[in-house]
Amino acid sequence: MPGFIEFSVTYLPYLLKGALITIEVAAVSVVLGSILGTLIGMGRVSHIFVLSKICQFYIWVIRGTPLLLQLFAIHFALPTLNEALTFPPFVSATIALTMNSAAYIAEIARGAIQSIDKGQMEASRSLGFNHRQSMRYIIVPQAFRRMLPPLGNECIALIKESSLVSTIALYDLLRTGQQIISSTYRYIEIFTLVGVIYLILTSIMSCIVGIIEKRVSVYE
Ligand code: ARG
Repeated sequence: MPGFIEFSVTYLPYLLKGALITIEVAAVSVVLGSILGTLIGMGRVSHIFVLSKICQFYIWVIRGTPLLLQLFAIHFALPTLNEALTFPPFVSATIALTMNSAAYIAEIARGAIQSIDKGQMEASRSLGFNHRQSMRYIIVPQAFRRMLPPLGNECIALIKESSLVSTIALYDLLRTGQQIISSTYRYIEIFTLVGVIYLILTSIMSCIVGIIEKRVSVYE
């Protein structure tokens, strides 16, 4: 039986390939989720009652049900409604993670918007901006800065939560590890390697977020 180092060297390339899928799914989802989530967050604080209620409902449903269930609903249940709704695992995974993340990011956006002092809106309105312009030019840019630390947490959460996609046959980091185990039975080695790779990914993410935060906070 080869030693740990030798074994790792043999299988690391496969695990790194899986890690790449993990990174891709998490990255695409967090970018799309941020856009969708910010819009939903803005809708949630909107003065338009129906829009605000719809956004509130979305957040309530998505945050109140397990991500795993959402993943299964998209990947296994949707195709039974209509064949055109059959997606490859990568697409289903990205849709589910994006939709899930958007709900969490919407709350981050709402919190950030509501944390901006009321005086900012009043000052902006008294300078002649209407509500929409005040939001666009005064409130949201300031709120965005406050969104960064929790958004960083969300990126890290998504890297870890993306491991759920291994249940729909997407060969991400965890599933690749399980596949190697099925032919080698080296549980301890593989799960250790998988854990270390996840740790490295999340640590790199924390560093990136730290750097961005520092840059942005210079102006506050
Ligand atoms: N695993 C939990 C769930 O099933 C948390 C999901 C967290 N998602 C997120 N985008 N932060 O719902």
